[in-house]
Amino acid sequence: MTIGMVQAAYIIATILFILALGGLSNQETARRGNLYGMAGMGIALAATVFGIVDGNYILLILGLGAGAAIGIKLARTVQMTQMPELVAILHSLVGLAAVFVGYATFLDPSAKFYGVEKTIHDIEIYVGVLIGALTFSGSVIAFGKLSGRIGGNPVLLPARHWLNLGLGLIAIWLGTLFVEGSAAGGGFFPLFLMTIIALAFGVHMVVAIGGADMPVVVSMLNSYSGWAASATGFMLSNDLLIVTGALVGSSGAILSYIMCRAMNRKFLNVIAGGFGTTTGGGGGGEAGEQGEVVAVQAEEVSEMLAGAKNVVIVPGYGMAVAQAQHTVNEITRTLRDKGVNVRFAIHPVAGRMPGHMNVLLAEARVPYDIVLEMDEIKDDFPETDVSVVIGANDIVNPSAQDEPDSPIAGMPVLEVWKGSTTIVLKRSMATGYAGVQNPLFFKDNTRMLFGDAKQTLDAVLRALQQ
Ligand code: TAP
Repeated sequence: MTIGMVQAAYIIATILFILALGGLSNQETARRGNLYGMAGMGIALAATVFGIVDGNYILLILGLGAGAAIGIKLARTVQMTQMPELVAILHSLVGLAAVFVGYATFLDPSAKFYGVEKTIHDIEIYVGVLIGALTFSGSVIAFGKLSGRIGGNPVLLPARHWLNLGLGLIAIWLGTLFVEGSAAGGGFFPLFLMTIIALAFGVHMVVAIGGADMPVVVSMLNSYSGWAASATGFMLSNDLLIVTGALVGSSGAILSYIMCRAMNRKFLNVIAGGFGTTTGGGGGGEAGEQGEVVAVQAEEVSEMLAGAKNVVIVPGYGMAVAQAQHTVNEITRTLRDKGVNVRFAIHPVAGRMPGHMNVLLAEARVPYDIVLEMDEIKDDFPETDVSVVIGANDIVNPSAQDEPDSPIAGMPVLEVWKGSTTIVLKRSMATGYAGVQNPLFFKDNTRMLFGDAKQTLDAVLRALQQ
């Protein structure tokens, strides 16, 4: 392959990546977007392997083989509920790759850079390793939090803002030492010291973030992994990696902004950490202090649903755990056949990753036109006869509005309690991800259907069909 052909392939891959991002912005076109992305990546990989690499083929084949084998195994075995943690750990690999490429480029004896060019190259290495290291350690902690291996409570070190500022200033100072040292044939020690600091910074940044704010962190690390890839592209002088990294970095930044709006948080405040603390008033302590809950059986729920005109279903993380989406679709079809107006209300942070609920409902073939975003349906609850909350908790918690001390205070929630009746499906009185008790369960017009959502919904479906 000539270099001209490689450049042409890279341009085609870039266009396909842009089309992929465009496709992913809408659930109707998301499948097509994925196909564009896969095609783009296939072309990019082929052009790089056959047009750029000129040696070390055994190593290349071993690397590609190992990567493909791990990828195939993960794709086959990972559960939908594990997707967010998988995404987090994959981000960490992008960061780690940037660190390795940075060190390899720095230590490369064949690299010949002089004067200003050398300074620019050294800055690229330093920034690449910095972003890569903090993306790596931050993503590993995010993986731990999302998979439940590390507790969701924020760990707040004393004077943490000063600590962050101090670490930032030391990293800049080490950067100047690195560039000067590198020009004189050294520079390894400041680079190494900065790597340790960046790793510590990544850990500190993510442990300080409370459970409820994890969506912003997930999308922020997504953005960082893009910038880390872009930095790798600069180090390797690979245009496609620069452009692709910038696409991921900027789309991740936009997603973080959308997540911040969904959580009603300021981006800088989330980065500074400390939100989502579970030590506040947080929804009023033990269940017993809030009153009694009214439990119902599947048959009663089916009667309420069959007798309703307007039904809104609010899915949450528990629907993903129970894998109840197919039964939800069956119930929706049965009710719609009976003339009931059924719609879905999707909170932007429902589940554990952006678009989590949309993916599940699309998989179960729920029609797209009845799956509505929060802004499209939030004013319709007063006219709703029955709201069915399936494995959702934080996103329907009124204490976000009523309790200024709550860890989720200020987060927009779906006001299901404004409808005539709310049915909540969950297994117990346990709290959601933010660890906050939910006063919704104790309201007069709330009915609890306890049990695994798949099993209880199967029973509701059977009753509806009889
Ligand atoms: P949660 O607040 O986590 O509530 C999920 C509820 O589902 C739990 O209370 C649980 O109660 C119930 N549940 C679990 N397994 C179930 C099963 N098999 N059958 C029935 N119910 C089951 O979920 P949510 O309302 O979707 O809110 C999302 C939360 O996750 C927010 O706090 C958000 O900030 C956070 N978060 C979101 C993201 C993104 S990007 N979406 C990323 C990280 C964190 P039981 O145990 O009693 O069954």
